Amino acid sequence: RKKAPNADDIRARKGGEPLVCLTAYTTPMAGLMDPHCDIVLVGDSVGMVLHGLPSTLAVTMEMMIMHGQAVARGIERSMLVIDMPFASYEEGPAQAFRNAARLMAETGAAAVKLEGGVHMEETIRFLTQRGIPVMAHIGLTPQSVNTLGGYKVQGRDAAAEQVLADAKAIEAAGAFSVVLEKLPASLSDRITAEIAIPTIGIGASVGCDGQILVVDDMLGFFTAFKPKFVKRYADLGPAAEAAIAEYAAEVRARSFPAPEHVFADQAPAKKGTAS
Ligand code: KIV
Ligand code: NA
Repeated sequence: RKKAPNADDIRARKGGEPLVCLTAYTTPMAGLMDPHCDIVLVGDSVGMVLHGLPSTLAVTMEMMIMHGQAVARGIERSMLVIDMPFASYEEGPAQAFRNAARLMAETGAAAVKLEGGVHMEETIRFLTQRGIPVMAHIGLTPQSVNTLGGYKVQGRDAAAEQVLADAKAIEAAGAFSVVLEKLPASLSDRITAEIAIPTIGIGASVGCDGQILVVDDMLGFFTAFKPKFVKRYADLGPAAEAAIAEYAAEVRARSFPAPEHVFADQAPAKKGTAS
């Protein structure tokens, strides 16, 4: 059985077989993806897909730690990476180190992810020089939805140079990989060609060094909206609703529970024991 890759192993995958990454928030789902993934990310998307929040802004350290612990119990072969939630790192390197160390210590995650490019360079350097591997996240950074004016494609036209500068700053600061979210494919390819660390795309390009999706999106559990970059590999939300509707009908019809689901007065004789 292969052991979980570390930050250096992931970095060494630059330009090779694409990195398979998914988010997870619970033990059973983490267990299902573990044999198939290189990286399992405890994303702050948990706030939207499992807690019904309108954005990721209200996600707390406590929520990340609780879901991180659950995911850690489900994986043994994938690298566990955990998102730093909004307002847990932006004040500066010391705050970022304190909260990143807590996330790793309390969940067993091997690395943290944080959003931002040039303006996070100093923080990423501070963490990586002190033992905390950092995955960066640029392009559409959902924690900045209120200053970006919505969940729009980033890096078009003149904005491309800024995103490229973000990627280079992240690489120079020592990040071991970077998520590219919602960028033009040509810019994503250019970034992938110009930096030496793996790029992990979501709404980016098939040419990235890896891909990531939110698991509830790709399984069809989260249906409030569907970004263009989401491919639904299954439609489990409607399947779950159909099962619930069948249960409701059977309860109302008194056809559930059936005889095999209820208990007799006497325990049945056990097979193989003297009777
Ligand atoms: O929170 C999240 O799920 C993410 C991934 C989509 C990259 O940041
Ligand atoms: Na995130």
